[in-house]
Amino acid sequence: IVVQSAVKQEKQVSSKSTPTDLVTETDHQVEELIISTLREKYPTHRFIGEESSAAGVKCELTDDPTWIIDPIDGTCNFVHSFPMVAVSIGFAVRKELELGVIYHCFDGTLYTARKGHGAFCNGVRLQVSKEKDVSKALILTEIGAKRDPATLDIFLGNMKKLLSAPTHGVRIIGSSTLALCHIASGAAEAYYQYGLHCWDIAAAAVIIREAGGHVMDTTGPLDLMSRRVVAAGTREIADCVVKQLQPINYGRDDTD
Ligand code: IPD
Repeated sequence: IVVQSAVKQEKQVSSKSTPTDLVTETDHQVEELIISTLREKYPTHRFIGEESSAAGVKCELTDDPTWIIDPIDGTCNFVHSFPMVAVSIGFAVRKELELGVIYHCFDGTLYTARKGHGAFCNGVRLQVSKEKDVSKALILTEIGAKRDPATLDIFLGNMKKLLSAPTHGVRIIGSSTLALCHIASGAAEAYYQYGLHCWDIAAAAVIIREAGGHVMDTTGPLDLMSRRVVAAGTREIADCVVKQLQPINYGRDDTD
């Protein structure tokens, strides 16, 4: 409701790590609301939030129960009222992801999953695509915040390789979490990105895995802090996508 009503109003926009990494007062407001509500219920739990981390709070995943929050994923979309904006909340215990909730703020779609209990969209069970042939795959990605010429060359080169692999196509919607929900629902076969953060992937990883899919680092098992991810309905498609990619170094969430 906070995001939906703020969309119609004038926004105070500022930038964080780069001029394209945007934040608004609504990002802060929603993060404070989520953290204070959860803290009241779970006073001993820890929190990793996009805006708290940007403000200097250490981004550290310990064995303690930890909520990993992106208050507005797709802030640039939110600024433009482009209707792909989500709130994402993941929950990890002993560094294992247990719960994921992603709310699409424009159409009210709610994606939920709990480890071992399946993934759902507005209560309807989700199932990833079973396609194994990359030439029949629709691939999703996001650009990330770096726009220097060398990074863009690698980004566009990766996209060119995937388009000519061949695949059915590559799409960018401006929200990592909602793109990842499309992998969980089987609307696309794979997602890859360099430069996303732990709060972009935490909730979505539970949802995709519970929908039968695979979520990993481009170099091995998923590392929440590595800022690299490949997700796919099948292992075959994930492996084919990884083979096409030239890495982009964004550093790590827990050291930078
Ligand atoms: C970003 C968006 C964007 C993606 C970035 C994310 P934010 O999240 O999902 O599409 O390219 O990597 O960090 O900053 O809007 O919460």
